[in-house]
Amino acid sequence: MYAELNRASIATLVNDFYTDIRQEALLAPIFNGAIGGNWEPHLARMVDFWCSVMLASGEFKGDVYGKHMQIQGVEIEHFRRWLGLFEAHARRLFQPAVADEFMAAARRIAASLQYGYFGRVEVT
Ligand code: HEM
Repeated sequence: MYAELNRASIATLVNDFYTDIRQEALLAPIFNGAIGGNWEPHLARMVDFWCSVMLASGEFKGDVYGKHMQIQGVEIEHFRRWLGLFEAHARRLFQPAVADEFMAAARRIAASLQYGYFGRVEVT
């Protein structure tokens, strides 16, 4: 049984995804380096972000590209794992067409970030 797309189910996706991120050997150090122990505001921002993308709720204002470009040590492999984990949760929670929409947005942004870090896009 898939979740309906609304703020509550988006919050479940965000919380489950970042619970995994925090236990993922390669990704955790990057996030902990930038966020430290202060996860609650990050999670709240990510719920706003995904609601803006998926529900056009318009509440997220941020400099996604600029913030990422400040983060040191990001490599292609981080994107492979980030996208793999995100896709696993999106497909577990939502019906295929909705999961596809999440992934289209995630891949588009991941591509622009890879271009910024590496000058090329390797993981799509
Ligand atoms: C290798 C992959 C990625 C890594 C390691 C990563 C890491 C991070 C970190 C550490 C932050 C916190 C930055 C800060 O608060 O200073 C952040 C913020 C954020 N990330 Fe990522 N990220 C990745 C991919 C993505 C992708 C693909 C998306 C989009 C779908 C995304 C969307 C965001 C957003 C919206 C924020 C919040 C920006 C803000 O607070 O204004 N990230 N990311």
